[in-house]
Amino acid sequence: MIPDNCKLERFFARWEFSVEHLLCASDVDGYPMPDLLALADDETRGLWEGLTLGYTETTGLPALREEIAQQYTALNPADVTVCGGGAAEALFLVANALLGPGTHAVVGWPAFEALHRVAAATGAEVTAVPLDPDAGWRLDPDAVRKALRPTTRALFLNFPHNPTGALPSRAEFEELVGIGTEAGITVVSDEVYRYLEYEPGTTLPAACDLDPRAISVGVMSKAYGLAGLRIGWLASRDEELLRTLRAIKDYTSVCASAPSEILALIALRAREQVVGRCRRIIDANLERVDEFFAEWADVFHWVRPRAGTVGFPRLLLATPVEEFVDDLARSESVLLLPGSVFDCDDGRVRFGLGRASLPEGLRRLDGYLRRTVRGRA
Ligand SMILES: Cc1ncc(COP(=O)(O)O)c(C=O)c1O
Repeated sequence: MIPDNCKLERFFARWEFSVEHLLCASDVDGYPMPDLLALADDETRGLWEGLTLGYTETTGLPALREEIAQQYTALNPADVTVCGGGAAEALFLVANALLGPGTHAVVGWPAFEALHRVAAATGAEVTAVPLDPDAGWRLDPDAVRKALRPTTRALFLNFPHNPTGALPSRAEFEELVGIGTEAGITVVSDEVYRYLEYEPGTTLPAACDLDPRAISVGVMSKAYGLAGLRIGWLASRDEELLRTLRAIKDYTSVCASAPSEILALIALRAREQVVGRCRRIIDANLERVDEFFAEWADVFHWVRPRAGTVGFPRLLLATPVEEFVDDLARSESVLLLPGSVFDCDDGRVRFGLGRASLPEGLRRLDGYLRRTVRGRA
């Protein structure tokens, strides 16, 4: 089984390292290595300095699993599997463990591609349930219930959401996870943007804490600004599911990179500082983009995200969005991501809030609009 092309990765492969300003990235600026090492405690500094570069434990460094398990209220370290290929690997494993021909999955829409293209490649049927842009990108639990079939095995959720920045209330998230409990299916909850909520007290509980069958996916790439480590994880109390996932992982990453595991451990132990840095970058950028979208309300319809690193405004110009993105990249070296990458053809573009260079990217976009949009020259 070969999944359909990953449109996002193909788009980034073309542009990511040739433009000066990525105004659409979903990660946060990478944490500088010396700053991260300076956060090590005695134990992790010892691990780092005594590191040998052999294979590592297939389920993950025990101290790292212990640290990850502390993010959950109902889990033990044994319920955690570290994935050396990030959350992308974690999602690949879950889809392959749960789905196949004759099965069915439900996914909130739009969706990060690993949440649905791998599922479809297993031979499963996939029903997309749209989030409503006019209701703050709400995923309607009744619409999810209606999409279920007797063959449904998995419900894929992703909150905080890529690409919209949607975040449901706690009650609504509990209702969505509860649908899995009622139907006896696995809720696969992609929580990679957890801890990047803008309002205090709005962090959702993890699905794996709410339901013993649910599986939560985490990663170091987003809230920690450590995408280069490629450390992700799967957390669930469903032992049988974990066994299946691990059996598949023996054919993918096998184990995680030894240096990455220790660096991830250092970061998790210093979570407040590491996540705090990412949140400060995002908070400052949010203010800037709010001002920008207020100024350009006739060009972009902006639904302000509630969490995470991205938002998904609609371009109101007659120019096709691909053409707009292409011309902006070529003339200003500023990259936006066309919504067509998410199979959305209603003129949307993804904005990313995780880069400290955002003000300069916005300044160039502003100049571009002043030049090209009639009446603003
Ligand atoms: C919702 C979601 N899940 C998973 C991932 C994969 O994360 P990583 O590439 O760090 O494995 C991403 C990355 O953009 C994402 O947005």
